[in-house]
Amino acid sequence: MSYLEATNDLYRKAATTPDVGLCCTTNPIWQLPGMKIPTIMQEMNYGCGSTVNPSDLSNEPTILYVGVGGGMELLQFSYFSRRKNGVIGVDVLPEMLEASRKNFIEAEKQNDWFKSDFVDLRIGDALNLPLEDNSIDVAAQNCVFNIFKLDDLKKALSEVYRVLKPNGRLVMSDPTCEQSMSEALRNDDRLRAMCLTGAIPLQDYIDTITSVGFGTVEVRAKRAYRVLDPKHYETKELIYIESVEVCAIKDPMPSDGPCVFTGKTAIYYGDEKYFDDHAGHILMPNQPLAVCDKTAATLQKLNRDDIFISESTFHYSGGGCC
Ligand SMILES: C[S@@+](CC[C@H](N)C(=O)[O-])C[C@H]1O[C@@H](n2cnc3c(N)ncnc32)[C@H](O)[C@@H]1O
Repeated sequence: MSYLEATNDLYRKAATTPDVGLCCTTNPIWQLPGMKIPTIMQEMNYGCGSTVNPSDLSNEPTILYVGVGGGMELLQFSYFSRRKNGVIGVDVLPEMLEASRKNFIEAEKQNDWFKSDFVDLRIGDALNLPLEDNSIDVAAQNCVFNIFKLDDLKKALSEVYRVLKPNGRLVMSDPTCEQSMSEALRNDDRLRAMCLTGAIPLQDYIDTITSVGFGTVEVRAKRAYRVLDPKHYETKELIYIESVEVCAIKDPMPSDGPCVFTGKTAIYYGDEKYFDDHAGHILMPNQPLAVCDKTAATLQKLNRDDIFISESTFHYSGGGCC
């Protein structure tokens, strides 16, 4: 059985029997004014963060959600879009689509603003999306792509890149891990499907995203997620797994490489009116400017004693250079 078949087996069961401990997030579930999330949707929350950000959703975007689960984030996206077929949900399993369809009917009973037809559910594979090129403004996936091995991860990212309109964005939440894992863990299809042992280092994750063409990447959040301990897993040392929220934007690739924002900030504290790097960045005295890692590295290389560059906070929320 391939790891993709093992994944399907796991989520087929999770579609019919909610598995509260599967994935699960460290941040509280987004509760929005006037929105009730049915209990069954909360029990079927198989994500590890949130992909729903109001700031991504201006100008009535067409939204694609890959890997529907119990449908909670599609309900949250619908809260903002509030129109027929505003959110397209794609899942490889008919059982998961059926479960979410029932959950949307329950959500409709509990929320007078919501109609089930706000969500357009489609059977399909993340590795071969049933959508036209350049047709989506905002795509999202939560705890799906980390399951994929490298070639499939590239394929899934390329598929989203293909269906996004120019400057469209892919919002993601996935586990990442900076430590190496044994081959036994990496090849344990069940643990991989449970979003535990497919996690790769954040820089590798970002490099894979930019390798398919995304010109801008934002790391918006990073949190503690899980540990794999020697008593319960095939590992000699304790392995620490984090979850990240990342947005990849289909901007043109800059000639000097992608702009990756990990939450670095530059602050000029010299005696001049401002500092101009003649590459488009002007630093006003003691005013923070969010900078991408590329700009941070260029400023650092100047070796000046009047520019401070912060470490990555991994909490970038927009603005700044590029
Ligand atoms: C870990 S769950 C996440 C569900 C949802 N995103 C959430 O946050 O609750 C993974 C979901 O992706 C679906 N899935 C797995 N492999 C897929 C694939 N190749 N294409 C599309 N969906 C897939 C599963 O059926 C399941 O609904």
